[in-house]
Amino acid sequence: MRILLTGKNGQLGRCFQDVIKNTELALFAFDSAELDITNAQNIDQVVRQTKPDIIVNAAAYTAVDKAETDSETAYLVNATGPCLLAEQAARLNIPLIHISTDYVFDGEAVEPYKPSDVTNPQSVYGASKLAGEESVTATCDKYIILRTAWVFSEYGNNFVKTMLRLAKERDSLGVVADQYGSPTYAGDIASAILTLCLDYQQNGSLAWGIYHFSGDIPTSWHGFARAIFSKAYQHGLLSKQPKLTALGTEQYPTPAKRPAYSLFDSKELDELHLSSSPWLQGLDKVLKNL
Ligand SMILES: NC(=O)c1ccc[n+]([C@@H]2O[C@H](COP(=O)([O-])OP(=O)(O)OC[C@H]3O[C@@H](n4cnc5c(N)ncnc54)[C@H](OP(=O)(O)O)[C@@H]3O)[C@@H](O)[C@H]2O)c1
Repeated sequence: MRILLTGKNGQLGRCFQDVIKNTELALFAFDSAELDITNAQNIDQVVRQTKPDIIVNAAAYTAVDKAETDSETAYLVNATGPCLLAEQAARLNIPLIHISTDYVFDGEAVEPYKPSDVTNPQSVYGASKLAGEESVTATCDKYIILRTAWVFSEYGNNFVKTMLRLAKERDSLGVVADQYGSPTYAGDIASAILTLCLDYQQNGSLAWGIYHFSGDIPTSWHGFARAIFSKAYQHGLLSKQPKLTALGTEQYPTPAKRPAYSLFDSKELDELHLSSSPWLQGLDKVLKNL
């Protein structure tokens, strides 16, 4: 089974390369210089060379605030790119595994979002990712879209690494406490995608559709920061834990609006033989590896 991976240097891209190492699947992984997902000719050439059985799209424009003033690039990478990949998947009659986000929702819900719930993105990033989902579902039949949230890992820039840096620089810091969601370890998303690839290899099919894949325990950014400091202290990465203050969203203004509530209902993951990311264990792994 031959797998074409885009965005190999991102958090998910790197975690996917880690989890696939101990399998017999053949991975053809590309960074944005080798495979620009906004370039149809480039995709066509790489697909003809690699002859994939599955395409995994880990590439995305993820600079949420920058997207507010750079919507053209955000749409190119998050909407046009997935559409071009979906065209290839349809042409070859192979699956496309694509990743989306909680930012497709407005965060006004009072109970966990189901995949079928009404979308209403509040930011350019969220709208561009929704446009990507729509182009994938309209272009090919064999797709799995995993919406995820609050992704962290050993790699790249993420909330865990930012908190660790700030904890070393400061004695106290304020973190937003009125936005709720579930942190997700990119290694768990990668393992979930690997399970999908192996299932497809074995059964020749998957329960195509859109699914919610995020952490198993809800928290706020403030709660997430507290868990990071406490575990980093236990792991010896911090000599002391900083004093943590709870901020309201209005005290930490950002160019892009974040959903205040983005918990996912992930019951439908059963259909894919997957379960939510045990993110506290993921956090332990990341802290051990840093
Ligand atoms: N990070 C989060 O908190 C979060 C939350 C919810 C959903 N998601 C979704 O989860 C997925 C994985 O996110 P991540 O955190 O792993 O992202 P990431 O670390 O920002 O990596 C994204 C990768 O996409 C590549 N890329 C950008 N433009 C490209 C292009 N035109 N062609 C090919 N590659 C391109 C980048 O490569 P270069 O660096 O070489 O440009 C980068 O390595 C994305 O779909 C994202 O939208 C992420």
